[in-house]
Amino acid sequence: MTAEGIPRTMRAVRLHAPGGLDGLAVEEIAVEQPADGDALVRVHAAAITRDELEWPVDRLPAIPSYEMSGVVAAVGAGVTGVAPGDEVYGLTGFDRDGAACEYALVPAGVLAPRPRALDGVEAAALPLAGLSAWQGLVEHGRLQRGERVLITGAAGGVGHLAVQLAHRRGAHVVGVASGEGATAARGFGADEVVDRAARFDEIVAPVDVVFDTVGGDVLARAASVLGDGGRLVSVAEGLPDGSATYFVVEPRRGELVELTRLVEEGALRPAVDSVFALSDARAAFERSLRPGKRGKVVISVRP
Ligand SMILES: NC(=O)c1ccc[n+]([C@@H]2O[C@H](COP(=O)([O-])OP(=O)(O)OC[C@H]3O[C@@H](n4cnc5c(N)ncnc54)[C@H](OP(=O)(O)O)[C@@H]3O)[C@@H](O)[C@H]2O)c1
Repeated sequence: MTAEGIPRTMRAVRLHAPGGLDGLAVEEIAVEQPADGDALVRVHAAAITRDELEWPVDRLPAIPSYEMSGVVAAVGAGVTGVAPGDEVYGLTGFDRDGAACEYALVPAGVLAPRPRALDGVEAAALPLAGLSAWQGLVEHGRLQRGERVLITGAAGGVGHLAVQLAHRRGAHVVGVASGEGATAARGFGADEVVDRAARFDEIVAPVDVVFDTVGGDVLARAASVLGDGGRLVSVAEGLPDGSATYFVVEPRRGELVELTRLVEEGALRPAVDSVFALSDARAAFERSLRPGKRGKVVISVRP
């Protein structure tokens, strides 16, 4: 234990081999001191994104889960925005270890105060998916009030937040979802919902923006629903002809503060599909890969 009460070791989920669940282990590793500009956050909860174990990593072993909520335990030199004891949440960078651990090192500049209306588990479910939805709709999709937007995976981690944000911006929202996801998507604010298994591309009237969170055949079919001058954006993948704008979400504190404001106004709320203990991390990642989820899968690190 250090003078600040921080233990010398912690439990962490680590990926030892790229690509899948078999490379995951829960281990006892050293707690590192924050470098210049970093905060050491005692993690309350960390959330998972489907397929994240397949994302390229430049280091192994690697701690997954790039979004979290927690309390600042210590800060490195030059940090001014946050201080020990602050309740925070945020999306960490993808070029460094994530937050599926008891103490996460995070660039202090990406952290925002945790929304008061959310508990620690809910707050962990917002940053990555919420910023993906915001950047997809506002920056890349340039969605305007009164426009029509088609959102695929409308009950999923990114999709359910995109539906709420698009509804809040005054757009007419058409959600694409499977089975009971249709009911959930309506609850999130979709004006119309079409089934992914149906030929939705033959029945939906042209839209100004497509925001895709599924990829593959769904993205290809969604593309054909675009009207003249429409914008095609995907957070899942690009299209071979280059017609879709594929982007990687960026950790931006200012946009997170904007999402916090929407939460406090009651216009945005992350849905938690399921919660797992850190020791059950493998089951959490398994769940994230299954269809039929409603919102985000979260690892509760410190209940
Ligand atoms: N580029 C980036 O920066 C970035 C950021 C966030 C996410 N992503 C990627 O975007 C995609 C969506 O992420 P997410 O967290 O929103 O995922 P998610 O919670 O699983 O939601 C995506 C939706 O995709 C549909 N789906 C299609 N095949 C599926 C399958 N095999 N398993 C589960 N659902 C399936 C489901 O909708 P229905 O069954 O209702 O149709 C689901 O609701 C993932 O590939 C993720 O890696 C990328």
